[in-house]
Amino acid sequence: MEKLVSLCKRRGFVFQSSEIYGGLASTWDYGPLGAELKRNLKEAWWRSNVFERSDIEGLDASILMRPEVWMASGHVTSFEDTLIDCKSCKKRFKIEAVTGKKCPECGGVITEARQFNLMLKTHLGAVEDEGSLTYLRPETAQGIFVNFPNVVNSMRRKIPFGIAQIGKSFRNEVTTGNYTFRSREFEQMEIEFFVKPGTDEDWYEKWVAERFNWYVRFGIKKENLRKREHAKNELAHYAKACTDIEYNFPFGWSELEGIANRTDFDLKQHSALSGQNLEYFDDGTKERYIPYVIEPSGGVDRAILAFLADSYSEEEVKGEKRVVLALHKALAPVKAAVLPLLRNRPEIVKLANDITKDLKKDMKAVYDDTGSIGRLYRRQDEIGTPYCVTVDVDSLSDHKVTVRDRDTMKQDRIGVDKVREYLSGKMKGA
Ligand code: GAP
Repeated sequence: MEKLVSLCKRRGFVFQSSEIYGGLASTWDYGPLGAELKRNLKEAWWRSNVFERSDIEGLDASILMRPEVWMASGHVTSFEDTLIDCKSCKKRFKIEAVTGKKCPECGGVITEARQFNLMLKTHLGAVEDEGSLTYLRPETAQGIFVNFPNVVNSMRRKIPFGIAQIGKSFRNEVTTGNYTFRSREFEQMEIEFFVKPGTDEDWYEKWVAERFNWYVRFGIKKENLRKREHAKNELAHYAKACTDIEYNFPFGWSELEGIANRTDFDLKQHSALSGQNLEYFDDGTKERYIPYVIEPSGGVDRAILAFLADSYSEEEVKGEKRVVLALHKALAPVKAAVLPLLRNRPEIVKLANDITKDLKKDMKAVYDDTGSIGRLYRRQDEIGTPYCVTVDVDSLSDHKVTVRDRDTMKQDRIGVDKVREYLSGKMKGA
């Protein structure tokens, strides 16, 4: 974990938020390479769910919503941790972390347990009173539920179908730590999949399998993933069943994504509180019902951490240490690096720059001449760049360049005019 955190800082994947002021606990900034990785990850998720399937629509709802939404969803009353404070060291603990009658940290006197709501509050408008109170959303899901009739009507959708959304969520987490794993501001990738009651258990099973396979498709080793079904007493207030997909993080097995059977809880609650009828009318069977919902809900930041941890390896090549991020091509922040073998030869530098410019039309490509070729390769391996293109003296006469594969380290000699087509072909279907 230490090695990964250090690489992420050194190579511009992840920085601490407000670092020059000492940092803000449990909030993180994605640097230039982290921002690319994050975009690619979200794109891969969106493509798999919204483009490749025919039964899902996309949505981008606002973070701020009417406070009634969070009353209906149960978050105002139930989205809580039970906490205990230490009167001596002032540290705060979740009740599960306190076993005896003393502070687990300093042995001091502790307070009675109290409820602590995890939603972050804010005020809209000029006056900060109860009437202007609202919340930063703690899940993206509710933006989907309240738009259910809008999407059904505007897209003429029939059940079963789903709505997918990616966006920021906020929680005033008490237990933090483990790097980006549990943050106070994070991103979620959520699908609410609406089904006919009675078919929900089948769809639940299908989605658990589908989501497990998605992580494998994008490169996570099967042996580092497992499914864990929640016991009844662990279930959230809205769920009839839930399975976590867990990843074997460097700090142990932990939740990457949860797939829940939310039943008709949310739509029923919103019907009751808004006074709007959120029933679905089935034209074919002339039935009216509130759909059940299967919800695959993953964290963007946790997925990034898992993909980074899973792809990191160190090996020895010709007596030297090689650090490689074997990221899936679709996720790699930089797809190709063009490297001139001699940076003091203007013709070579020009050709390398021309190739970079051409590649940039199709993919994220960079030019680098700031070191020896060995060092340049190592730098690209460490950030997961799948291909390096080397321009050498021979390139000037045979109009060919060397393309090196990150994983096999095999080198192919390719015509300068074919490089873009060759690399674009390698990226296709990735
Ligand atoms: N809509 C359901 C829901 O929000 P959740 O299990 O609380 O369920 C879903 O969250 C996913 O969101 C988790 O599996 C995790 O990947 C991510 N997540 C939740 N809280 C997080 C936090 N504080 N920091 C980073 N990711 C978080």
